[in-house]
Amino acid sequence: MIVAVDGPSGAGKSTVCREAAKRLSWNLLDTGAIYRCVALLSLESGVQDEAGCGAIAADLPIRFEASARGQRVFLGARDVTEKIRSFEVTQRVNDVATMGLVRAELLGIQRRLGRVGDVIVEGRDIGSVVFPDAGLKVFYTATPEARARRRQREFLAKGETIDFEEVVAQIRLRDETEYRREHSPLIQCPDAVVLDTSALDFEGSCQALMSLIEERRHCLEVKP
Ligand code: DC
Repeated sequence: MIVAVDGPSGAGKSTVCREAAKRLSWNLLDTGAIYRCVALLSLESGVQDEAGCGAIAADLPIRFEASARGQRVFLGARDVTEKIRSFEVTQRVNDVATMGLVRAELLGIQRRLGRVGDVIVEGRDIGSVVFPDAGLKVFYTATPEARARRRQREFLAKGETIDFEEVVAQIRLRDETEYRREHSPLIQCPDAVVLDTSALDFEGSCQALMSLIEERRHCLEVKP
């Protein structure tokens, strides 16, 4: 069964999907990591145009590997798990993800990687484009204020402070980009179950996602 989990950035989707997949002993496909690998290679090679980034995507030697430290991401023999989370890659990936050619090239890779039995696939266009026939589609979201509060708590835990209103403004701006981009914008599929986690903590969000999966996996239905 494929469970497609889409939703805006910074709602805690990745962490919750990772934990749910671990508890259910399912596979996890973090499609954002694939876009981040293209962004990393684009930065390293200095290739910035759409044709060049499309060529990088078409020939991406990506591999996900389970380890005691959690899932690792490799490009060839190189472990890039931490590197793809760097500030530079995070800046670059926003551009790369808007390129139609890159999205088209990554479609096949995502579909091949995702056909591995029971799997949670998380991203922005999984239910709408990559796996429109997913057994369950979840739209995972939280209000900008709830997301900003979570971000604020993460910073506080590191002994740092951030301006709440500024973070809310940044989140709204990023949402705007994701909802309005030309290719595969973030949309809430009509057949997706909306999971609003604004009032939930991490454990509550995890339980909510797992309950949806449990309910659906025991339900046999013919899709229209
Ligand atoms: O989820 P993330 O922050 O790791 O995603 C990185 C970038 O890739 C972000 O700009 C959104 C984009 N992305 C996308 O456009 N489509 C996906 N299926 C997954 C991620």
